[in-house]
Amino acid sequence: MVETAASTDVPIDPIALRRAFGTFVTGVTVITTRDDDGTPRGMTANSFTSVSLDPPLLLVCVAKSASSYPAFTNAGCFAVNILHEGQVDVSGTFASKSPDKFQSVTHDHIHTGAPVLTDSLTWFDCTTFSTVDAGDHAILIGQVRAFGTSPTAPLGFCRGRYASVKDPLPNGWLASHGMIIGYLIEAGDGLLLRSDGKGGWVLPSARRRKADSQLVIDGGDALRLVPDETFLYSVFDVADSDPGYLVYRARLAGEGGARTRLPADLRFFPLDDLPDDAIATHELRSMLRRYVRERQAGRFGIYMDSDDGGRIAMIDGEARTWLQTSQDQGQ
Ligand SMILES: Cc1cc2nc3c(=O)[nH]c(=O)nc-3n(C[C@H](O)[C@H](O)[C@H](O)COP(=O)(O)O)c2cc1C
Repeated sequence: MVETAASTDVPIDPIALRRAFGTFVTGVTVITTRDDDGTPRGMTANSFTSVSLDPPLLLVCVAKSASSYPAFTNAGCFAVNILHEGQVDVSGTFASKSPDKFQSVTHDHIHTGAPVLTDSLTWFDCTTFSTVDAGDHAILIGQVRAFGTSPTAPLGFCRGRYASVKDPLPNGWLASHGMIIGYLIEAGDGLLLRSDGKGGWVLPSARRRKADSQLVIDGGDALRLVPDETFLYSVFDVADSDPGYLVYRARLAGEGGARTRLPADLRFFPLDDLPDDAIATHELRSMLRRYVRERQAGRFGIYMDSDDGGRIAMIDGEARTWLQTSQDQGQ
């Protein structure tokens, strides 16, 4: 018979128990809330579990010894932010006793007022459904009021170490949920194109655009863009089976991009001398022709494809900042 530590007269060694608990593979979250005076509070937690779909509930266990414990049990709301693989440092910061953990992250209020980390794998913004006293921890049960997720890879945790999760996205997940994000990037009178490796040219692509106007081109460095000149330009499919294309237009910051170091497969072509015959697809070619035409006229449209050949909405005037517009409207 296998000997267990279940009998009442066998004391449980807390260190051995902690090690045994630690063999359970988890993700890593940062749970966040706010103090009475609105100061954001947060800590790293891997005790997260989904609980119920109807009503939508989740739970997390908070140590009574944590300095943010009173904030979590009093605020009436909290958020669970699941970290992605690039956030080991965020986990470290929120597991520390640093007085200003939020300095190194961006956060926002979405629904309940709990600070939601804008860069995370997935977030859940919750009101507190109930709090259950449980030994040296409290079980915080939250009712999900809003949530969001992204296709990045999760950060894993097992036996006290961070772990990477192999192939976290099932086949076809990205294809059905994500689109290819292409960029029409201008510098001076040139347009940036990428070699497709087969003698053709396509648009450079990137996984996502950063709010601070840094664009990390797939397979390349970060390019700095002029924020006022980055706009949606075209949305279309090339074939039924592809994930669809979202194309932005953008301008490289700095002097004509001349000093930007580019990967070998990227090249600027003069706008009046694009390699028309070598553009990889017919859809891309017609989009580039429209772009050159509209650029000459100084007036751009946004294209959306449809069964009857698509539609273009023309945009008049210069770009204005959101702040300026809302001030003018007295908001
Ligand atoms: C991967 C990891 C998971 C953790 N999970 C939890 C948890 O689920 N509950 C908890 O109370 N503390 C957990 N901690 C410890 C807290 O993050 C740590 O005690 C933190 O300093 C508490 O912050 P505070 O005292 O500022 O509130 C975890 C730490 C790490 C590194």
